[in-house]
Amino acid sequence: MTRLAGRTIVITGGSHGIGRAIAAECALEGARVVVGYRRREREALQVAEEASNGSIALPVDVRDAESVERFFSKALESCGAIDGLVTSAGIVSDGWLATLALAQFDEIVSTNLRGTMLAIRAVLRPMMAKKRGSIVALSSVAAAHASPGQSAYAASKGGIHALVRTVASEVASYGIRVNALVPGLIDAGMVKATHPERIRRTLAHVPMGRLGEGREVARPAVFLLSDDASYVTGHALFVDGGLGA
Ligand SMILES: NC(=O)c1ccc[n+]([C@@H]2O[C@H](COP(=O)([O-])OP(=O)(O)OC[C@H]3O[C@@H](n4cnc5c(N)ncnc54)[C@H](OP(=O)(O)O)[C@@H]3O)[C@@H](O)[C@H]2O)c1
Repeated sequence: MTRLAGRTIVITGGSHGIGRAIAAECALEGARVVVGYRRREREALQVAEEASNGSIALPVDVRDAESVERFFSKALESCGAIDGLVTSAGIVSDGWLATLALAQFDEIVSTNLRGTMLAIRAVLRPMMAKKRGSIVALSSVAAAHASPGQSAYAASKGGIHALVRTVASEVASYGIRVNALVPGLIDAGMVKATHPERIRRTLAHVPMGRLGEGREVARPAVFLLSDDASYVTGHALFVDGGLGA
């Protein structure tokens, strides 16, 4: 299918894991992809090359407002317009709140919540000028369900839900849709570093009884980016094998 033909989709965190799977799926649907990376330059260049359609890779550190501004102005300069944004850049690191270092909390919130906000903020004005756009922010089931040791991560992702709902209401009249995509346990990226015992315990609560695959998150992302979701905004789409049900 070519639901994104002729469109430019920017993906922060496109160099690895779920973001990488989303980049590949967007390309299959005809999009030109701007692959945002922080450290994995080689992988990001490879993702862009495999995506073809004039796709490019650009560095960005979502914790740094100037870096984010530079990233989006280069993307606009190279592609002319941004039709879609996926914010997949994110980190996880666990620790019980009672002993969690403040620096660890700040790092997670600064990357996941503030970084998502900076990226969304940077595309709003160009999208408002075009009166069109779709934004998909990666959240997590941790935002909705208690997961001991993940208070900082959960707070950062819960903030994304509130941000998405509110921004969606602010820009709906400009033809811009803003949604959250909420993965459960996905066999890609950060889960590869998760302790097998934690995965086993979580899987016991997943009705489908298995991990999701990157592509199973990427396809719903394409749906939200495409006109198939033309009346969907301010929504949180759970892709979690029933974990949140
Ligand atoms: N995997 C899961 O099961 C799961 C479940 C729920 C939610 N999620 C969410 O889905 C998103 C992707 O997760 P993933 O598993 O694919 O993670 P991942 O494989 O670890 O990839 C994280 C991506 O974020 C980028 N990144 C990290 N810090 C950054 C920064 N400061 N500035 C710019 N980019 C940065 C990385 O770039 P470089 O590699 O280039 O440094 C990488 O491309 C995250 O938001 C995560 O919270 C994942």
